[in-house]
Amino acid sequence: MKHILLTGGAGFIGSNLTASLLHDNYTVSCLDNFDSFYSRKQKQVNVDPFIGNEHYNLIEGDICRKADIEQIKDVDIIIHLAAKAGVRPSIMDPATYQEVNSGGTQTLLEYARERSIKQFVFASSSSVYGINDNVPWREDEKLLPISPYASTKLSCEMMGHVYSHLYGIRFLALRFFTVYGPGQRPDLAIYKFFKSIINDQPIPVFGDGSTSRDYTFVQDTVQGIKAAVNYKNSIFEIINLGNHRTVNLLELINSIEEIVGKKAVINWQPDQPGDVRHTYADISKAKNLLNYKPTTDLKTGLLAFYEWYKTNSKQF
Ligand SMILES: NC(=O)c1ccc[n+]([C@@H]2O[C@H](COP(=O)([O-])OP(=O)(O)OC[C@H]3O[C@@H](n4cnc5c(N)ncnc54)[C@H](O)[C@@H]3O)[C@@H](O)[C@H]2O)c1
Repeated sequence: MKHILLTGGAGFIGSNLTASLLHDNYTVSCLDNFDSFYSRKQKQVNVDPFIGNEHYNLIEGDICRKADIEQIKDVDIIIHLAAKAGVRPSIMDPATYQEVNSGGTQTLLEYARERSIKQFVFASSSSVYGINDNVPWREDEKLLPISPYASTKLSCEMMGHVYSHLYGIRFLALRFFTVYGPGQRPDLAIYKFFKSIINDQPIPVFGDGSTSRDYTFVQDTVQGIKAAVNYKNSIFEIINLGNHRTVNLLELINSIEEIVGKKAVINWQPDQPGDVRHTYADISKAKNLLNYKPTTDLKTGLLAFYEWYKTNSKQF
C-alpha cells in the first residue's frame, strides 16, 4: 500500500486525516514538531490512538530541517499540513510565519524533487481571497490577502506551481474554509465559544456580529484531501474545500447556546486587523475534480465537537 508523508499530522486536521488513512490501509509517516502554538498534550491525545499501529510512524521533527525530513524513506505521496496557523498571531510575528510556512514548504518540495515524489497535496487557506467581496469565491477570483499568514499560503501555492512545471511534481493546493470538529484548535472561535459558555465566561465578539464563515466539518475536509491523494488528471490545481453555506457569528453563537443549554455573555470588541468579513466557497471545482460532497450540517458537526470536548478537554 502507498506510503504517505503527512506533515502536521499531530494537529487537528492531520490527526482526523490519519485515522481515515490508516482505515484505508495507507502507511502514514507523521512529521510534526509539536509546535508550542497550543498544548502539546492536546496533540499527544490526538496521536495516542495510532501509536503501536504497524502502519504508523511518528517522527518528532521540523519541516524546515532537511535532516529531519530525510529520516523518512520510500515516500509515495506528501500531504503537507504543517504550518504556523492563525491569522492574528501572524501579524505579531510575520517573519516566523514566512520562515516556517514558506521556508518549510520549500524544503519539502526540494525533498520531493530529490526523491522523485510525484504527488504533493498542500493545505492552503480561504484567507488568500482576503477582502475580495465577490462571494461565493471561485478559485480564479482576484486574491487580496490581508494577513502575513494568508500571504505565506499564497506564496506556497505559487511555489507549488514552479515545482509542478519544472519537475513534474503534481501539486494540489486545497483551500480549506474554517474547519471545525473533534480535535479542533483551541484558538478557533468554535472551541473558544464552547469553552467560555460552558464556564460562564464572557465571549469576545469582534465587530458587530455580522461577519460570516463557511464552516466545514473536518470529516468533509478529510474526504476532500483523500480524493486529492488519488487525483491524477492534471499536474497543478487549486481547489476550494468549503461547505458552500455561510453562517454569521450570532447564528453560530445561538447554535452553541442551544447545544450547551446556556446563554452566552458577549463582550463586544472592535474589528480585528487581518480578519476578513466573510468567507464563502464556490465548491463546483471540487465537485467536478474530486467528487467532493460535504454532508455534515452545522448542528451535527457542533454536537460532534461538543462530545469530543466534554471527553477530552480537561486533560489539556
Ligand atoms: N483549521 C482550519 O480552519 C484551517 C483553515 C485553513 C487552512 N488550514 C491549514 O490546514 C493545516 C492544518 O491546520 P490545523 O487546524 O490542523 O492546525 P494545527 O495547528 O492543529 O496543525 C498543524 C500542525 O503542524 C505542526 N507544525 C507547526 N510547525 C511545524 C514545523 N515547523 N515542523 C513540523 N510540524 C509543524 C504543529 O505542531 C501542528 O500539529 C495548516 O496548514 C493550516 O494553515 C486550517
